[in-house]
Amino acid sequence: MKKESIHPAKALSGGLQLPGDKSISHRYAMIAALAEGTSELRNFAAARDCHSTLGCMKALGAEVAVDKTTVKVTGRGLRGLKSSWRTLDAENSGTTIRLLSGILSGQAFTTKITGDASLQKRPMKRVVTPLRQMGADIRAKDDNFPPLEIHGSKLKAIHYEMPMASAQVKSAVLLAGLFADGDTRVTEPATTRDHTELALSEFGAHIEKSGRTITVRGMASASNQATLQARSLEIPGDLSSAVFFIAAASLLPGSDLFIGNVGLNPTRSAILDFFRSMGAALSIINLQANQGEVVGDLSIKGASLKGGVVSGDLVPLLIDELPMLAALAPFTEQGIEIRDAGELRVKESDRIAVLAENLKRMGATVEELPDGLRIAGRSAGKLHGAEIEPHGDHRIAMAFAVAGLAAEGETIINDADCAGVSYPTFFAELKRLVAG
Ligand code: S3P
Repeated sequence: MKKESIHPAKALSGGLQLPGDKSISHRYAMIAALAEGTSELRNFAAARDCHSTLGCMKALGAEVAVDKTTVKVTGRGLRGLKSSWRTLDAENSGTTIRLLSGILSGQAFTTKITGDASLQKRPMKRVVTPLRQMGADIRAKDDNFPPLEIHGSKLKAIHYEMPMASAQVKSAVLLAGLFADGDTRVTEPATTRDHTELALSEFGAHIEKSGRTITVRGMASASNQATLQARSLEIPGDLSSAVFFIAAASLLPGSDLFIGNVGLNPTRSAILDFFRSMGAALSIINLQANQGEVVGDLSIKGASLKGGVVSGDLVPLLIDELPMLAALAPFTEQGIEIRDAGELRVKESDRIAVLAENLKRMGATVEELPDGLRIAGRSAGKLHGAEIEPHGDHRIAMAFAVAGLAAEGETIINDADCAGVSYPTFFAELKRLVAG
């Protein structure tokens, strides 16, 4: 397994273009496979996770042609997917297995889907419960974990009040709703990313939003035989990948970084407000609307960060950014406290435990809480380089590479290739910008 060595740096400077957004790429790939005609998806994510989704859609009968970052998906229509003779492999991707479960629930065939060792430990009951209410027959290991065996059927529309704020659960129900008779409604307890709603509208589904309730109209039932239409779409750069560079540029005083074409959907951009509230020198330039999504360029300079508290309804809006915030906390004035984030324990790793473990390795003062972390700021002492164990979790590997740039001495990131789950060229880009 590849190790990366990180040395202290003075600045992060230059320009960066990011691979396409992971969440959006998953959704466009799945919905394009249900549409009529060939969709062209430009700046498709380089993330391994999104290529897992493409592999699954191909196994279900969609035609997929990848040419660098342009992906052409020829859909089979809402009733055209075919059963896969082999078990689908979502690899490390929770989004793939959970969203696809919604689509598979509405098919006239049975599908088995599983993933790697990490995915096999992640809870699926959260999607299995509403999909069973809609009429699907789903078997799971211990009634909760992959592999899943999904016996699709005719689905009925439901109104699902989600017990947790999860975009993946919302999306699974909305995608299943395409195959239900009538209108399927989902009410979320707090706002989560809305890429599924936007993508469904973009491909021609009927979506309505009222407060925290989203409604999708069934399209493949006896009463409504509408179709989704192929689209030509440009995917914005991934803000969740940008955040590692925003953090690095902020931490290193001489930095001057430009990041072009970043997705700034308001259900994702709370992290930028949080950076600003900590005193980051961050500006947004050229804000534009793009196929329902918002895109802009970012400029970041070095700054002294104050720290702060992340809790409550803010958590689902920046859930994937919490590893980076935790790893930069020891460099802030007051430290950072993360609460109400028990979900972090069931991500690609138990992120609360793994963050605490690696922060301690670097000499941070950290308290592990059931639902978060309390991490002391600069007054508790400077971090030193250490050997980091990401436990196969891409965001842990990248977060500690950034911390290593601002620590004393050398930091080694073990199993650094795991970064490829979301950002295969992360280490190459980081080295280029440090040198520049
Ligand atoms: C995602 C939703 C989030 C996030 C994940 C991607 C998505 O998960 O953590 O990385 O694309 O819908 P939850 O919705 O389970 O919180």
